Amino acid sequence: MQLRPLGTSGLLVSPICLGTMTFGSPVEGPAAEGLIHAALDLGINFIDTANVYEGYRRFLGSPGGVAEEIVGRALKGRRDKAIVATKVGAPVGPGPQDRGLSPVHVLREVDRSLRRLQTDTIDLYIAHWPDREVPLETTLAAMDVAVRQGKIRCFGVSNHAAWQMAELRALADRGLGPRLVSSQIPFSLLRREFQHDLEYCRQRGIGVTPYQALQGGLLTGKYHRGSPPPVDSRLAEKPEWMWKTDDALFDRLDALRELAAEAGVDQAGYALAWALTQPAMSSLIVGVKTRAQIEQAIAAASLAVPPEHVARIDQAFPGPWKQPDPLRG
Ligand SMILES: NC(=O)c1ccc[n+]([C@@H]2O[C@H](COP(=O)([O-])OP(=O)(O)OC[C@H]3O[C@@H](n4cnc5c(N)ncnc54)[C@H](OP(=O)(O)O)[C@@H]3O)[C@@H](O)[C@H]2O)c1
Repeated sequence: MQLRPLGTSGLLVSPICLGTMTFGSPVEGPAAEGLIHAALDLGINFIDTANVYEGYRRFLGSPGGVAEEIVGRALKGRRDKAIVATKVGAPVGPGPQDRGLSPVHVLREVDRSLRRLQTDTIDLYIAHWPDREVPLETTLAAMDVAVRQGKIRCFGVSNHAAWQMAELRALADRGLGPRLVSSQIPFSLLRREFQHDLEYCRQRGIGVTPYQALQGGLLTGKYHRGSPPPVDSRLAEKPEWMWKTDDALFDRLDALRELAAEAGVDQAGYALAWALTQPAMSSLIVGVKTRAQIEQAIAAASLAVPPEHVARIDQAFPGPWKQPDPLRG
């Protein structure tokens, strides 16, 4: 796999990043450690986790930490082989300081993550969700402390809009903290609402690392209209995490089936290859349950979507509305 720059961080990452949100359950510890080793052996050098990940057992406010502990154990003796990203902000308890992007919470959680990951430095530390109670400059000041203490190398955001990234950049330009290097957004053929922000990221050198490019597995071709989901699939095991499968959705999945068949590739590969060609893409964060799923994601990095498909894709999987450009067409 050809490595790509992670924004302006100076880091080079594989175009496929290993997601860990299901580590703990249904992917139990030893199996999850095996998947991390397999990913590294197959050329993935980028792992995405979060302080709250613990798989399907997670509930809002549960303490998390399970996936980070698994990553820490798996990387023992191989820490230098992986760029490790983790996140802060989601609730880890019931108290007012147990969530969000305040310096108290961020600086407490960075220490907990370091301990669980068994590392001295987190390569990429990500603000998980915007916090409307905490000004962006306050969060940036906390990230600055963490960078100066050597606890994190780079800072990124997740689920933030372009205007929030622009504010953070302006603050960094005034010397008020580190420049953000990455943006983690939901993005797939079925979810294109952040599409217009990609151009902003491209122009500003912010690396985009989307999540759910397979829409939780819906875009892999394993779900069929009128048939029950496969027993070991997410739709069978954790339907609360999945979209409603109605006729409108299956109509779109039929369109994907047709396009992928015409291109002669599998549907998961087609969906990932399409996402990888979008502006500013550094690495797609893919969730996996098996080694075969890792291999399929990696294979997608060398696939190409036929150029003549672009208009048909936009018709079947429309992006957000955009006013026609009266100046340039
Ligand atoms: N920043 C955020 O707010 C945020 C939010 C969500 C996720 N994330 C990150 O993004 C990562 C990916 O998210 P995700 O796992 O929800 O979405 P995803 O990558 O779209 O879906 C992954 C799931 O699809 C199925 N799958 C994957 N490859 C397959 C293949 N080739 N054939 C058939 N099924 C396949 C597997 O589930 P089954 O086999 O069980 O069906 C797998 O667990 C997470 O692990 C996490 O690191 C971040």
